[in-house]
Amino acid sequence: MSKSTNGAGKLWGGRFQERTAASVEAFTASIQYDSRLYKYDIAGSQAHARMLARQGLITEAECEAITSGLTEIEGEIERGDFVFKTELEDIHMNIEKALADKIGAAGERLHTARSRNDQVALDIRLYLRAETGHFQNLLLELRRSLVRLARKYQHTIMPGYTHMQRAQPVLVAHHLLAYYEMFGRDRARLADGLKRINVLPLGAAALAGTGLPIDRHYVAEQLGFPVVSANSMDSVADRDFVIEFLSTAAMIQLHLSRLSEELVLWASEEFSFIRLADSFCTGSSIMPQKKNPDIPELIRGKTGRVTGNLMALLTLMKGLPMTYNRDLQEDKEPLFDTIDTVGPSLGIMTELLAHLEFQQERLAQATVGGYMTATDLADYLVRQNIPFRQAHAIVGRTVAYGLAQGRELHEMSLDDLRQFSDKISDDVFAVLSASGSVNSRVSAGGTAGKTVAAALELAERELNL
Ligand code: ARG
Repeated sequence: MSKSTNGAGKLWGGRFQERTAASVEAFTASIQYDSRLYKYDIAGSQAHARMLARQGLITEAECEAITSGLTEIEGEIERGDFVFKTELEDIHMNIEKALADKIGAAGERLHTARSRNDQVALDIRLYLRAETGHFQNLLLELRRSLVRLARKYQHTIMPGYTHMQRAQPVLVAHHLLAYYEMFGRDRARLADGLKRINVLPLGAAALAGTGLPIDRHYVAEQLGFPVVSANSMDSVADRDFVIEFLSTAAMIQLHLSRLSEELVLWASEEFSFIRLADSFCTGSSIMPQKKNPDIPELIRGKTGRVTGNLMALLTLMKGLPMTYNRDLQEDKEPLFDTIDTVGPSLGIMTELLAHLEFQQERLAQATVGGYMTATDLADYLVRQNIPFRQAHAIVGRTVAYGLAQGRELHEMSLDDLRQFSDKISDDVFAVLSASGSVNSRVSAGGTAGKTVAAALELAERELNL
């Protein structure tokens, strides 16, 4: 242990003449939240100790005392028997001090050739590597539930919208697979970010490296890092990998929010496209008739804090000179909050989708109105060799006529339609129905039944369904 009587037993107390003010300890401490890094801090310290022993910087016996002491501490933390102390600031010093108290002098050798600056960078990288894997699994399950739902309603047609106006009929499955694509890109973003998370910063020490004969590659190997960082200053100063993760997480929550918005609309009396299970809704304390879609509302609402956390980190970093600055301690709460918000949002959305039914009759009604096959009529005219702009104008006049008469396109007679173009014959009715329209859209990535069936099969293969 430090023999200093000053600095009240602080690991850094040597040069201090006075005790740290209690208000300063309270203000500077991060242990209230960084304790969640304990597992990674311990794994990093154990790898570091084994390297120190291998390099002859500590003895094998010291290494053994350190690694088993740390394993005991890990057990104490897990059982809730460990007392975290504010005056020891953070998780790194809480564990190091407990180790020294437990095993004596050997514990005081652990911090050889290491700084809390590279230590904390290591802990966050190990933590984010694990959380990236966790998020990838959550996205996998969400995509599975989207594909299961799409398969269930493979042949159901619904209105597709632009400008929130009925535009063209599409398959429910096609709509759901749009989200499958979005969450697939999010998963790819996580995998890509992992390449930059998965770099060992330990060995940078405070900022300039160390004069002691360490072996960073051996530490990297033990902790499963494919590479060691190239520049010691960058290693302790950068948090861009955290910002990248927060950005991907914000994108995930944004995608969840868009889906939530649609579920809220669809569950309304006005749309009535879906029914959410009672077990996934709540009631009103005053209006007895209400059944509210709180889950998608909350997911949508939580997007604000997730976006805010990304902004917080971008702003935190923007004015920092090289290298480590204590400001960097402020990276953790936004990061943890995003993890604690996006993870459960993904989980509950996956469950919700399994408790959702499309109202098929209502959807069938909704797809007949709104002149949604007008583009199909224009395409029909194009196939009769009419230039598209002219076809567009012809159909526009036909729709105006229908609006005046209170009739949809498929409700008009052939004579009605031929007033606008004599190129129309009775095969036109095949393209004026919702299913005719849907199935005509055979272009790659379109909503035709066959195209969507192929997309579903591909998705099921990808997800092992
Ligand atoms: N709690 C600190 C953080 O989160 C650990 C690193 C502290 N380093 C230092 N030189 N004070 O950033």
